[in-house]
Amino acid sequence: MRSLDRSLQPRHPTKALNMGRRIIQVEIEDLAFDGKAVAHLEGKVVFLDGGLPGETVTAEITRSKPRYSQATVLDITDKCDARIPAVCTHFDHCGGCTWQDLEYDRQLFFKKKQVQECLNHIGGLEQVEVDEVVPSENIFDYRNKMEFSFHFADESTFRLGLHRRGCYDDIFDLEKCHLQSDTASEIVHHVRDFVRQESIPVYDVKTHLGFMRFLMLREAKKTGQIMVNIVTNIGNLPGQDRLVEGLTREFPNIATIVHGQNGKKSNIAVSEIENVLYGPGFIEEQLFDCRFRIRANSFFQTNTLQSEVLYQTGFDLLDPRPTDRLLDLYCGTGSIGILLASRVAEVKGVELVEDAVRAAVDNADLNQIENISFYQGHVKEFLKSLGSEERQFDVVVIDPPRAGLHPKALKRTIALQPNKLLYISCNPATFARDAKEIVAAGYSVSRVKPVDMFPHTKHIELVALFAK
Ligand SMILES: C[S@@+](CC[C@H](N)C(=O)[O-])C[C@H]1O[C@@H](n2cnc3c(N)ncnc32)[C@H](O)[C@@H]1O
Repeated sequence: MRSLDRSLQPRHPTKALNMGRRIIQVEIEDLAFDGKAVAHLEGKVVFLDGGLPGETVTAEITRSKPRYSQATVLDITDKCDARIPAVCTHFDHCGGCTWQDLEYDRQLFFKKKQVQECLNHIGGLEQVEVDEVVPSENIFDYRNKMEFSFHFADESTFRLGLHRRGCYDDIFDLEKCHLQSDTASEIVHHVRDFVRQESIPVYDVKTHLGFMRFLMLREAKKTGQIMVNIVTNIGNLPGQDRLVEGLTREFPNIATIVHGQNGKKSNIAVSEIENVLYGPGFIEEQLFDCRFRIRANSFFQTNTLQSEVLYQTGFDLLDPRPTDRLLDLYCGTGSIGILLASRVAEVKGVELVEDAVRAAVDNADLNQIENISFYQGHVKEFLKSLGSEERQFDVVVIDPPRAGLHPKALKRTIALQPNKLLYISCNPATFARDAKEIVAAGYSVSRVKPVDMFPHTKHIELVALFAK
């Protein structure tokens, strides 16, 4: 492998080969935060689909703006040493994996670099150290949840699979996904065959007619339990008894089958109506010595084994005391609060999704935790509603979605003045934005610890502790 410094230096001058057809030859210098490759041409930055740092590529400009251009790689004329063959046959067109063709340690190198750049450029926090990214022990078959879409092609043809890279409205037929188990890919085939045999119409996102919309699979990695969640337009699922009989016969690890119905135009796999066709309507997963119930619509970390590493990293930083009152904001199914409950005096969890709060309450009971309670609603509203005597939290954990904290939620969290604030983030850009405000309010943060939850993809997770 080339030395890190050398691989970031352009070795050939970049040049425009034919500006009429807008074909260029550039050397890739870096990987951007959203997974695109970065080069420079005539003083302007070029973001490319394809290509790895250190490679010289021929590319076609697809968009030209005053400050940057976008391009698609046509040919790699000089490959870098870190390029490896992708394992997956779908890699060149799948929207899931971005860097399966890049050695894993180089993926981690660029993820760390991107965290540092966000801290510097967005947060103005150059003094904060970024640790090496903690690698995922499993770099394939690590996901416990996958969502597949049905795609209407014409009256007699449909596809069931994942989004094509860069296309929100095109789906390819999935043969096998290496980020999930072989069994999960086999279930995709089984459901596709079933829909064909039963001639069930597939939902068309353009006309909003048709029935089959999504297939969501959850597979608990510690317990082996599988949930099949079939999301359709409103109505009964034709042949549902045959589907349940076939699935449970062929895949004995299926613990539950759920039929979710979503009649809304928004193309998401969340359902308005839920019918449990088989089993209890949830599966159970194990984290450390606690058991967690996961329902169809509730959030659970998607890489089970690495979520233990993520949480442990955060808990070591937080190091709570037995007298602490802990507030777990954006608590999902309650995992962080439940895992910490035995180490503190009291925990309060706040979560927007009703289904997740229901699961969090079940999970607390399941693990016989009594010093925890949950509030369902927006974090910013919860914080606004707190009376003065309820505002005494020693430690606050925040684990928001990619958008980070709403400005009011952030302001109200800081106003609680906890001694320690643990921030778990799945987006270094919004983390850096929020970190800037937290530091400006008088907190210090010395280091940030990225943990790789999503090998081969552009996604980055990190943990940081802010102390008064
Ligand atoms: C990244 S997940 C974290 C879940 C949990 N901490 C865990 O580790 O499993 C973010 C959670 O925030 C919830 N959420 C999103 N917006 C919210 C809001 N405004 N108020 C409360 N919860 C929200 C989502 O439903 C999701 O469960």
